[in-house]
Amino acid sequence: MPPARYRVAIVGAGPSGLFAAQYLTARDDVEVDIFDRLPTPYGLLRYGVAPDHTTIKSVANALSAVFDSPAVRFLGLVNFGRDVTREDLLASYDAVIYAVGASEDLRLGVPGEDALGSRSAREFVAWYSGHPDAEPQSLFGIRQAAAVGVGNVAVDVARILVKDSLALEDTDMPEDVLAELRRARVSDVWVIGRRGPQHASFTTTELRELCRTPGVQVSVDPEAFDGIDSEALDRRSRANVTVLREAAAADVRSPRARLHFLFWRRPVELQGNPVTGMALERTTLDAAGRVVGTGETEELSVQLVLRAIGYRAVRLPGVPFDETLGVIPSMHGRVVAGDAVAPREYVVGWIKRGPVGVIGTNKSDARETVEHLLADLAELGQLPSRVDLLDVLATRGFAPSTYADWRRIEAAEANRGASHERERMKIEAWHELLDLVLRERPGGPIPPG
Ligand SMILES: Cc1cc2nc3c(=O)[nH]c(=O)nc-3n(C[C@H](O)[C@H](O)[C@H](O)COP(=O)(O)OP(=O)(O)OC[C@H]3O[C@@H](n4cnc5c(N)ncnc54)[C@H](O)[C@@H]3O)c2cc1C
Ligand SMILES: NC(=O)c1ccc[n+]([C@@H]2O[C@H](COP(=O)([O-])OP(=O)(O)OC[C@H]3O[C@@H](n4cnc5c(N)ncnc54)[C@H](OP(=O)(O)O)[C@@H]3O)[C@@H](O)[C@H]2O)c1
Repeated sequence: MPPARYRVAIVGAGPSGLFAAQYLTARDDVEVDIFDRLPTPYGLLRYGVAPDHTTIKSVANALSAVFDSPAVRFLGLVNFGRDVTREDLLASYDAVIYAVGASEDLRLGVPGEDALGSRSAREFVAWYSGHPDAEPQSLFGIRQAAAVGVGNVAVDVARILVKDSLALEDTDMPEDVLAELRRARVSDVWVIGRRGPQHASFTTTELRELCRTPGVQVSVDPEAFDGIDSEALDRRSRANVTVLREAAAADVRSPRARLHFLFWRRPVELQGNPVTGMALERTTLDAAGRVVGTGETEELSVQLVLRAIGYRAVRLPGVPFDETLGVIPSMHGRVVAGDAVAPREYVVGWIKRGPVGVIGTNKSDARETVEHLLADLAELGQLPSRVDLLDVLATRGFAPSTYADWRRIEAAEANRGASHERERMKIEAWHELLDLVLRERPGGPIPPG
């Protein structure tokens, strides 16, 4: 292999960062270091995509091929903004790609939102996905739950709540999560949309899967279908409406759980602490097509409210950020600071486009960014002098975790799975992940944090 000419840092080892690495290393004159705050790659593919969606989860196998390249290094346990700065990266790499996704969530902004029993779907998903930062979720005493929002995340959390836990036994969920789901006795789940079924953002395949969950009776507030002109809808919305109509018409004998779709309602208050109920206001659209309340309210008895109303990116220290759109501002993947392009800085994935789009969307997105990055580097050339960031970190007493460390975590998860007759069982505790990282370097530098 000829000596690499360019060195590129990618911050974030989620799908978008790994697609970008794939495109970069399709050339033989680029070396790539992929940083992540976790010792585990794959971002939301590992910690967001539902454990029972094994086909899409297997995209990780294809993405892992990028690490086979000798031109690629995985540098885990490196938190941008805490362990490395923008200046560190710009001094060590010819270009930097930010691929950090959107790690926070939106809030409803209603009274009672912080009460016990009110959480974001993001936190709930992190829990059942075994994210090391996740707080345990108790489902004790919860009979009625609500997911606010009618997107695919709402569909995921509703499905996990109504699905027979036996059907989750062969997933990679941590054992204590499965144990909690086995104990759970949730009988009713409401999925609540502030507009109509024709406006819902869930995709039909996901909606159909939810509505066909064995042992679950679906109901849809019949008024929700009033005034819908199916012919005027796009294909996805029309199919969604059909799925909902058919599901509501189907009679399930002795259902184990009931799933209720409520449209044209928005939460205005969560009552009790812990939550015992929620006040919903009927909604309509004003002349400008905005959602407005009608003033008519009703009460719903629930002990768990999961807001699934969208994710939100956080500002990276020192990096331009558009607070309104929640993205790093960019043009064709080039970071923009004020009115000018910030040389050698790029962006991909959810932090570029906002928190929408499936795994595959990040592929074409990464290609666009990488094409512009490579065109710019051809003009700008290499940095006049480069320092090796690993040397810089070593002087700070810090060695990132490696891809070999991740493979050891993976092997330990496979071992744990085998003892439960499962392919894999996630290791979710920070101390266990760090034990596995440090096993091969006793006495070696300990990552901070
Ligand atoms: C709950 C949920 C379920 C989903 N299910 C599906 C599905 O079934 N099918 C599908 O196609 N799509 C699904 N998606 C969408 C898909 O997950 C996203 O399109 C995709 O993950 C976005 O990729 P990304 O790389 O931009 O961000 P992410 O996947 O979020 O990756 C960002 C990475 O950056 C790292 N990071 C963040 N901050 C820092 C920092 N300061 N320093 C270092 N590293 C950092 C994170 O640890 C993470 O590894 C789902 C999304 C969600 C939220
Ligand atoms: N299986 C899969 O393929 C899968 C699984 C999960 C996620 N994903 C993808 O990941 C992305 C994110 O999904 P998501 O579900 O988080 O986002 P989403 O699709 O944008 O859905 C957000 C939902 O929240 C509603 N909402 C927003 N603010 C609200 C408020 N203040 N009060 C009440 N409702 C509010 C929205 O309604 P309005 O439309 O009225 O704003 C919408 O119904 C999507 O692209 C999704 O397809 C894919």
